[in-house]
Amino acid sequence: MADILLWLCHGHHIVLLWISIATLLTISSSMPPPNPIKCNNINSTSNCQLSNSYGVWGDRQTCHAPKIVYPTTEEELRDALANANKNNLKVKIVTRFSHTIPKLACPGNSKEFVFISTEKYDSNIDINMEELTVTADGGVGLRKLIDTIEKAGFSLVAATYWEGVTVAGVISTGAHGSSWWGKGGAVHDHVIGLSLIVPANEFEGYAKIIKLTPHDPLFNAAKVSLGLLGIISKVTFQLEPAFKRSIRFNFTNDSHIEDEFMEHARKNEFGDIQWYPSRHIAVYRYDNRVPLNTSGDGVNDFLGFQSNPILLSKSVRATEKGYENARNVGGKCIMASSFVAYKKLIANGLKNNKLIFTGYPVVGHQGKMQTSGSCLYSSPLDITSTCAWDPRINGLFFYESTAIFPHSNFGDFIRDVKKLRDLAKPESMCGVDIYNGFLFRFIKASEAYLGQGEDSVVIDFNYYRASDALTPRLNQDIWEEIEQMAFVKYGAKPHWAKNRNVAFLDAQKKYPKFNKFVAAKNELDPKNIFSSEWSDEILFGKQEGLKGDGCALEGLCICSEDRHCSPSKGYFCKAGLVYQEARVCRFSSTSTRGINILSTGNVQI
Ligand SMILES: Cc1cc2nc3c(=O)[nH]c(=O)nc-3n(C[C@H](O)[C@H](O)[C@H](O)COP(=O)(O)OP(=O)(O)OC[C@H]3O[C@@H](n4cnc5c(N)ncnc54)[C@H](O)[C@@H]3O)c2cc1C
Ligand SMILES: *[C@@H]1O[C@H](CO)[C@@H](O)[C@H](O)[C@H]1NC(C)=O
Ligand SMILES: *[C@@H]1O[C@H](CO)[C@@H](O)[C@H](O)[C@H]1NC(C)=O
Ligand SMILES: *[C@@H]1O[C@H](CO)[C@@H](O)[C@H](O)[C@H]1NC(C)=O
Repeated sequence: MADILLWLCHGHHIVLLWISIATLLTISSSMPPPNPIKCNNINSTSNCQLSNSYGVWGDRQTCHAPKIVYPTTEEELRDALANANKNNLKVKIVTRFSHTIPKLACPGNSKEFVFISTEKYDSNIDINMEELTVTADGGVGLRKLIDTIEKAGFSLVAATYWEGVTVAGVISTGAHGSSWWGKGGAVHDHVIGLSLIVPANEFEGYAKIIKLTPHDPLFNAAKVSLGLLGIISKVTFQLEPAFKRSIRFNFTNDSHIEDEFMEHARKNEFGDIQWYPSRHIAVYRYDNRVPLNTSGDGVNDFLGFQSNPILLSKSVRATEKGYENARNVGGKCIMASSFVAYKKLIANGLKNNKLIFTGYPVVGHQGKMQTSGSCLYSSPLDITSTCAWDPRINGLFFYESTAIFPHSNFGDFIRDVKKLRDLAKPESMCGVDIYNGFLFRFIKASEAYLGQGEDSVVIDFNYYRASDALTPRLNQDIWEEIEQMAFVKYGAKPHWAKNRNVAFLDAQKKYPKFNKFVAAKNELDPKNIFSSEWSDEILFGKQEGLKGDGCALEGLCICSEDRHCSPSKGYFCKAGLVYQEARVCRFSSTSTRGINILSTGNVQI
């Protein structure tokens, strides 16, 4: 296989990007992600460990159950729950993907749990041609669903950008794409019915199937239910006649994003904005429907979800780690600017003719433009490529923070982040620009109790996570300040499927209908069969409790003393630069141990 060497110049520096020509010109081939469940041995169903797609939780923290079952039909799913209920076992529902980042699906230590997997429950996809709906088994993967409905002449309007999710998993966490039009960008708002398997008494056979429609009072609890109400066995989505989309990216300066985001969302059905703060670059995605007879057979094969040669992922990680250890901000900025330049060159992975980007606009079928994930698929001939974050290869390892703002205060948040950038110097923000900068997406007001009560803007930002929990990260004070600005100052809500623990503190208070969700949970699952200490921690935003040394480094706490950071490595607990109520771990080369800024209110810059 041939490789391209890409040289990008930055003053005196030359950066080399090594890109496998296979990822550009041929269908990528790769080693599929590892199964998230590992039991005693192959084909065993006992003594099983769950880890997420990034390979976290696995070893040190408990996410383990003595047994797993793999039902294949709705009746077998019901039996599995009945069995557990009858034997006083608790249950966590797991999928073949497990792409949720917090430990929602983790059993606890207190009692015996059984994992019920939907991995083998994925055969039925029934399309109703008259009503324009589709009903799928909960374990069906998003790609299989979309391909089936597109073949029948329909489109699903909203989906996550990443296709490695199941239909029940994706709605359970409120996951979304981007749109303020129609029913909006959140997948669960396109659900018009679902079947839920819930515990029942002995006379009803210990478990029963209930069918919910939008008129049912439990429907708004069940749409986004974090796996805590019951097992979702069937999901019915509203469809539309098949359509195409036309996409263009505008890499431009970021001078007016805080004023332009509203109009951008109103004018573009599937618009989003990527913001690279250190580069002063905003990328506006102009993305709208076009009639089906518009010519174009493009695909959106998002770069971040393509297969990468293992050597490339390892070397990017090693390079970033090297700059981290050497505290080399300039090095990280060079990486950021090369990556942004490369993304501009290849239009983030849009391909006009399924093979390569040749120019805007790129027009293609909805089913090929909304969601992607080519690194999920395998080729037995080539096992040298994987998803860049594959835990088996020491590739990328990062945090994923996702905050959901009411649209009315989002502009002020951006103004604060820009202020912070100017005060702390733009270079301090290169860390997110190595990933995808800040991605702004749009979701509409929803009736779901754990959804968004008003039209909202979601931001995602990813940044370096040290392999070792107690290693501080370059400019981590900046990300902590932005995290606290978002979740505390602006009251943003955390995405249920992403984020570090601190984002969930007090989250329940931000949901006016939180109590209605809890009431539905108590009604359907009075014995708390589906809850564990881990899912409680996320749902109820457990208070910090005892704060250990270094707890702020991994986002387990907000620091209030130096020891919550890493004083031995020069990181001390300080006030935020713009949001002065924030408490962040900041590096200081000279010892500032004597100065207690928390009590004096002085800000050390
Ligand atoms: C690379 C990547 C990209 C992503 N992109 C996006 C994005 O663009 N937009 C976005 O919003 N999110 C995104 N996410 C988050 C992702 O959409 C969510 O984590 C989603 O919930 C994962 O679905 P899953 O099928 O893997 O479910 P899991 O992670 O396995 O499960 C999620 C929760 O649902 C429960 N559950 C699963 N199946 C059932 C069932 N049948 N009945 C009841 N409960 C069930 C589980 O117990 C768990 O609590 C991304 C994640 C990754 C890793
Ligand atoms: C790109 O976006 C900027 C800012 O919104 C706008 O002024 C400019 O006209 C856009 N360019 C194109 C080619 O759309
Ligand atoms: C940003 O771009 C717009 C339009 O492309 C231009 O008018 C404006 O002067 C630019 N601002 C900066 C600071 O470069
Ligand atoms: C697409 O179809 C519409 C009517 O259905 C027609 O008016 C239009 O000319 C067609 N466009 C193309 C590019 O064929």
